[in-house]
Parts: sequence; C-alpha cells; structure tokens
Amino acid sequence: PVSVGRGPRGELTLAGQDVAALAQNWGTPLYLYDGATLRQEVQTLQTLLKTQYPGVWEITYAAKAYFALNFARKLHEIGLGVDVVSLGELYNARQAGFQGERVHLHGNNKSEDELMAALKFGAHAIVVDSLEELAFLESITAREQIQAAIWLRITPGVNVATHPSIQTGHAASKFGFLMEDGQAAEGIHRARASRWLKLIGLHAHLGSQLFDAEPYREAASRLTELAEGVDYIPAEISLGGGWGVPYTLDDAENPLEPWVSAAAGAVRTEFERRNWPLPKLVLEPGRRIAARAGVAVYTVGTSKTASDGSTIVALDGGMADNPRPALYQSRYTAVRVDRPDAEPVRETTLVGKYCESGDQLIRKIDMPELKRGDRVAIPVSGAYQISMSSNYNLAQRPAVLWLDEGRVEVLQAREKPGEMRYWSEASPAE
Ligand code: LLP
Repeated sequence: PVSVGRGPRGELTLAGQDVAALAQNWGTPLYLYDGATLRQEVQTLQTLLKTQYPGVWEITYAAKAYFALNFARKLHEIGLGVDVVSLGELYNARQAGFQGERVHLHGNNKSEDELMAALKFGAHAIVVDSLEELAFLESITAREQIQAAIWLRITPGVNVATHPSIQTGHAASKFGFLMEDGQAAEGIHRARASRWLKLIGLHAHLGSQLFDAEPYREAASRLTELAEGVDYIPAEISLGGGWGVPYTLDDAENPLEPWVSAAAGAVRTEFERRNWPLPKLVLEPGRRIAARAGVAVYTVGTSKTASDGSTIVALDGGMADNPRPALYQSRYTAVRVDRPDAEPVRETTLVGKYCESGDQLIRKIDMPELKRGDRVAIPVSGAYQISMSSNYNLAQRPAVLWLDEGRVEVLQAREKPGEMRYWSEASPAE
C-alpha cells in the first residue's frame, strides 16, 4: 500500500495508524483497506486511459473482488462504474448510490429475478452469455414490454498464462458465445433482429491475474473480425478485467501502462483500419483496484517443528477468510507487525486454524522468530479474500476497516456467532 510506514519503534503503520493498536482494539483476523492506495490505482488508470484513448472510455469495478456496502460507497464516490453478477451485488450497487447507467450485469446463468432487477434498475447493459439466454431475456422483455440494452460476451479463443481455474477466454470456457462454430455470429444476428433487445456492444474477459498484455490485443482483433464478418459496428467494446498484481517479491511489478496501451491501442488500430467510429472502451478491473489496498492482520497461536525441521506457526484465521492459497496455490508474503524489518531467521509455514491440512496461508517462507501473541500482516489481501470468505467450521467473518486521512471507518463489522443463519436457533423455524 502507498501509505505503509513505520512508527517510532519501527512498528508497522498503515495510513498513519498503528496496526498493532488496531489489531488490539478490533481483534483479529482483521482486514484493513488503505484509501490512498485504492485512489492512487484508480487515478493512474484514469490518467492512462485519458492519454492513450481518444474516444469515450469507462472503468467499471468488478464487484466480485470485494463489495461490502460501505466499500461500494467508496468506489462510487471515487467515480467508478461497476460490474455486478448477482442480486446481492446489484442491491449493494443501488444502495451505494450507483446510477443504473453505470452498472453492467454479468454472469453465465442469470436468474429471472436478476434480469428483472437489472432491467428495472436501468442497467447500462446486460451482458448476454449464450443463445439460450438471449432467447430467455427476449421473452422477459417482450412480456414486460421493455427494451434491454445488451452486450454479448464473446469467447475469443485466446489462451492466457494463469491458473486454470481463472482462465476464461479459451475455447473450452463455460463463459460466452463461441466464435468457431458460428454461435457468436448467430447471437449478433438474433440480437439485431430483436424488437426488444438493443445490441450496443461486445465483451470479452480473458482471465484473471494476467501479466502479459498481448492477449488483449488478440481479443480486440478477434472481436472486430467477428463484427466485420456480420456487418456490425459495435458502439462499445469491453475487454474485461484481469490485469495482475504482484503478491510476492518474486512477481513482476506489472505496471498498468502495458495493459492500457494494449487495450486502447488495439481497439483504436482495429477500428481506424476499418474506418469505423471509435467505440466506447470499457475496462473491468477488480483485483487491480482492490488487492493492494488490503492488508490482513492475524495473531500467532501455536508453533511446532515440522518433520523436515522447518517451523509451523498457526494464525487465528486461514482458509475461511482467505481460500486463495487452497484454491489456486496463491503465494503471499508476511511481516511481523511490531518489527516488519526484523531479520528472517527461520523457514516457516504459516498455517490457518481450520480443520484441514490444506489450510496453509504461506508455505515455507523465511520469517523472524514468531511466538504466541505476535501479530502478522499479509499484504495484497484486498481482492477475492473477504468476498470469497466462508463460515467454515462456523468461523465468523473478520472485521474490515477503511483507513483514510487519519480516520478509521468500519466497512464490515466482525460477525457474531448468532448472526450466522445456519447456526442461530431461529433460522430453521423461519
Ligand atoms: N470481468 C469479468 C467478466 C470477470 O469475470 C472478472 C473476474 C473480472 C472482470 C475481474 O477480473 P480481475 O480484474 O479481478 O482479475 N477468485 C479468483 C479470481 C476470479 C475472477 C473471476 N472473474 C482469484 O482469487 O484469483
């Protein structure tokens, strides 16, 4: 985060706040968001788009990365649009003050309720994922006598280098209209022929945590070839999100510039080459905006020596608040909160407290001595952690705070046992 610092005894501070004191007051596991980091990333992206793309553009935040209502309010204040995939995300977008015009509805299997809610909210576009869904949405709009602005999500058949679970643009993906067998062309024909659907753009999302910009160029050229083949000039093009974030010192820094210049440059080249008016260019970053603003803070409990002589240190959270290491073998770093600059002395595996062996947050990193009561901070924890958190072992979700200009605001309060629906006595009888 940009506002990370050191206090008088070398202890970790974030946005000028003492992290150990926050952990003491709010308990752990604790998630902290640094407002300045989030704003800086958005501003960099806005400046790049402004300088590199001469047409209209928009940044829509992918709500799935993290979208508690109070966080959604911050994103709205900052001036982002939002991409939502469920009734819950749509509800939070509305409650946070987003206008329908700034909202897109994604998803490969939207329910009738979700589609209706997006229509009533006046979503800028519903992103249709298949021929079947096109027909379903058309039947709803015809029944309701209401027009729907849509994009088609295209599977451009572009391969990317990332964990298989988060690749989406390849031909075998469950998402979008395939190009090879003519589904995509057929989708465009049907959408344009519809009285109720108004096709305003094409979309592709290639995958997540990407460090190579070339696939975005390929996607732009595949989408424009597709459109040209059916004599359609898209008014809007979304190349999705996916630009990666370094989690450890082994990861490349991955500045935003190559991403924006590939997306903006390719769309511009492809459209100008065909003498088409430049479309509105949409990017949908989630991780890139939220990840580095977030820091997770834990307290050390038990330690033991593993069979190979390395040390196992257990934290008071784990896969219930961060399932990413278990799901994608994601790697992280950690520091001791009282002395982030302490010399590493021991090969350490930081494990969680949940009842399965795969609940390991960080395998084999060099850490300073850790003993019961020490606090450990794991940076780059702002995306796909709390939003993917669970009540596994009937754990309660952590508190999440927003730190900004000397203030501390609660984004989400720590869950209490009685608030978990399948735990509390009231819920089965309801
Ligand atoms: N647009 C669409 C249509 C998406 O499906 C996604 C992410 C995004 C944008 C934003 O992608 P981002 O910029 O955040 O990479 N849980 C996984 C990531 C799943 C991403 C799903 N779709 C993880 O923790 O790595």
